[in-house]
Amino acid sequence: MQPRAPSSPWLPLLSLLFLLSSQTHTALGAVTTYGLVPAAHQTTAIPDGSAPQATLAAYDGTVLTPPAPPQPALGPDLRLPEQPRDAGAVQGLSIPHRGGAGFYGFSVEMSVITQTIGKNSTHIFPAFLNLMANIIERSGSVLVRLGGNTQEYAKFHDGLFEDGRITQKEDSGSLQTTETPAVLYTIDLFRMMANISDLIPVKWFLGLPFNDTSTFHLDIAEHGQEILGDNLVALQAGNEPDLYGPHQKRVTPYLPENYNQELESLFTTVDANERISVKNKFVAPSVSHSNPDWALDNIWSTGFIDRFASRLYALTVERYLDNNCFVNFGTGTERIPQDVFPNYLTHQTHVELLSDYLGTSALAQQANLPFIMFETNTASCGGFAGVSQSFGAAMWILDYGMQMAYSNFSNALLHVGGQNVFYNPWISPPTNQSAFNEWTVGSVFYSAMIMAEAFGKQESRIVDLQVGSPLTPAYAIYEGNTLSKFALFNYVDDRSGANDLLVALTVTGGVPASVKVKYFLAESVASKRDMTWAGQTFGNNFEADGRLKGDLNVTTINCDVTNNVCGIPLRAPSFALVFMDGSSSDSQSLELLGQATATFATTARTKGHNTATVPPEVLATSNGHAGKERQNLGSTSRGSVSGAERSAVVGFVAIVVSAVVGAWAVVRS
Ligand SMILES: *[C@@H]1O[C@H](CO)[C@@H](O)[C@H](O)[C@H]1NC(C)=O
Ligand SMILES: *[C@@H]1O[C@H](CO)[C@@H](O)[C@H](O)[C@H]1NC(C)=O
Ligand SMILES: *[C@@H]1O[C@H](CO)[C@@H](O)[C@H](O)[C@H]1NC(C)=O
Ligand SMILES: *[C@@H]1O[C@H](CO)[C@@H](O)[C@H](O)[C@H]1NC(C)=O
Ligand SMILES: *[C@@H]1O[C@H](CO)[C@@H](O)[C@H](O)[C@H]1NC(C)=O
Ligand SMILES: *[C@@H]1O[C@H](CO)[C@@H](O)[C@H](O)[C@H]1NC(C)=O
Repeated sequence: MQPRAPSSPWLPLLSLLFLLSSQTHTALGAVTTYGLVPAAHQTTAIPDGSAPQATLAAYDGTVLTPPAPPQPALGPDLRLPEQPRDAGAVQGLSIPHRGGAGFYGFSVEMSVITQTIGKNSTHIFPAFLNLMANIIERSGSVLVRLGGNTQEYAKFHDGLFEDGRITQKEDSGSLQTTETPAVLYTIDLFRMMANISDLIPVKWFLGLPFNDTSTFHLDIAEHGQEILGDNLVALQAGNEPDLYGPHQKRVTPYLPENYNQELESLFTTVDANERISVKNKFVAPSVSHSNPDWALDNIWSTGFIDRFASRLYALTVERYLDNNCFVNFGTGTERIPQDVFPNYLTHQTHVELLSDYLGTSALAQQANLPFIMFETNTASCGGFAGVSQSFGAAMWILDYGMQMAYSNFSNALLHVGGQNVFYNPWISPPTNQSAFNEWTVGSVFYSAMIMAEAFGKQESRIVDLQVGSPLTPAYAIYEGNTLSKFALFNYVDDRSGANDLLVALTVTGGVPASVKVKYFLAESVASKRDMTWAGQTFGNNFEADGRLKGDLNVTTINCDVTNNVCGIPLRAPSFALVFMDGSSSDSQSLELLGQATATFATTARTKGHNTATVPPEVLATSNGHAGKERQNLGSTSRGSVSGAERSAVVGFVAIVVSAVVGAWAVVRS
């Protein structure tokens, strides 16, 4: 079902421009997502680079001490076993991962949509679009879930809010662990989502409130299906039901069979509702794995899969390695970030955590259902200061993604919790902050983007090579039936060079004459700044507009064909993605890809400039400042725009529309 005609308002313009303008053929374009802002701007006295609001968790500056390097040092040589070129000869390969749908998507807490995605349907944040474009150009599309704990108390508001926002908070009374006030949302939320999907292929999940299953509140399902059509992938029925009992949301004992009965009653209600036309795209059970009564086997032994398979789009679980609930809510045991840091610098924690799910991933395959890690990140209840935004955590989340893919999860969604959590993949500046403080891209966003690049747009399979130490995991990735890439990690932090490795790759039938390598780098595993992927960066806190900046740096390594070996330098710490197969066009285009060709900004200035900084005014609007405040915003520092540059209205219109052509082409191709 496709209730709207995407991009149709643009079509006449598109045809016109194709005829009239050679500009339409430029690869780069900027799309205006909302109108021009007032030209007035003044200098600001606040020096560039300062970071007010550092007390909010999202912008936290804590830098931990990296663990000591291993003694004796690893390496200097790490020889991987000979790897078959043909997938048929490989033991333990994962399921084929769907081409065109990136492995990592995102899960955005309902209450923070207006901090991370957009204010409303005519006010979508360019930084969000730019970030998604960077995933999409690598993987074809991206999954975004709107939900989380706040979905349970999400309430439809039939009307609009005065300030133009699509959500508002309402106090729902007693606050418990990770329980947040009710979120009121308007019809414009769905229009915003539809507008986003018209621009770039973002596919959505929405969460149904499950706080009151005697009277289901199904507005989200009705409006979601009507307005989003096929861009709505599925609806989540219940979030972490294993915690309903412990959090006193249900009379105890509340066990899997009680939940099954509520699901039955949901489906009865859905069947009777004519406005919900798609009745078989739900995800469940989305358990958090913190209640032994709800061990996965206990759920499956109720006959869950047979009973509900015809209603389900996928089986879902949610799991974080650890939690920081003690600090935030006084529950559980206290965790000291410095002490838990080493858990995020080893492959071992993934292997242990995911061993709980291998039985379920096999059941999901038998039932022909995708198996999705519906919500995850470094640690629940906000993450850990110093850990969650570190370079080490980014390597760990990347390794986690690869290990989940190897363990036959179909996808995983990285949670975005807002300004009060440490682990956001991206976040806007605080609303009251000066405009030059731009967006913040968290280290784990790189993990999602690199994962998208590793898997590309074709069907891919992955195998954990299970070599070396837990500090140096390595994977091989097959595209179709052919060896395509190696993914190499070195978690060791050692600036002396003693733990730098030379990884020797050998391929059955011989290595190519050369391979291309992209590195993910930062000074230390504890670093929270100056991260680069193949030489490019989103910038440090308050510096990002969602586009990669700097020149792409892809390293060519010549191989020793005679001895069938490629030696890949792997410094401590770093990650390397090695492109083996020059014959696949998908792989070749990924090798050369840095910043995505589709870019979004609010002014003409960005046209054609990969490295442009979005002018401060953009943030003023993107962050929801009132018009009167905007006049005080602006800067003479980087990215400032002269009045002359923006006064050429005719030129501006032409450029913006040509940019829309670029985006349109991306959407269609
Ligand atoms: C987005 O949605 C609104 C409906 O509120 C519509 O008027 C507008 O044209 C849409 N498109 C863009 C690009 O804002
Ligand atoms: C469930 O949440 C909705 C939306 O916040 C609220 O209107 C309703 O009263 C809640 N029901 C219960 C039983 O808590
Ligand atoms: C979105 O917010 C802007 C800025 O507050 C406002 O001008 C506009 O009317 C709002 N759009 C909608 C569709 O509510
Ligand atoms: C993943 O699924 C494939 C195909 O069924 C199977 O061969 C493999 O053993 C599974 N991997 C794991 C880690 O369970
Ligand atoms: C800005 O917002 C933060 C967090 O809400 C608050 O602590 C601070 O006082 C505000 N500052 C100003 C100048 O309003
Ligand atoms: C490109 O990356 C390689 C490997 O990290 C590095 O040695 C080289 O100096 C980089 N080149 C540039 C121009 O930054």
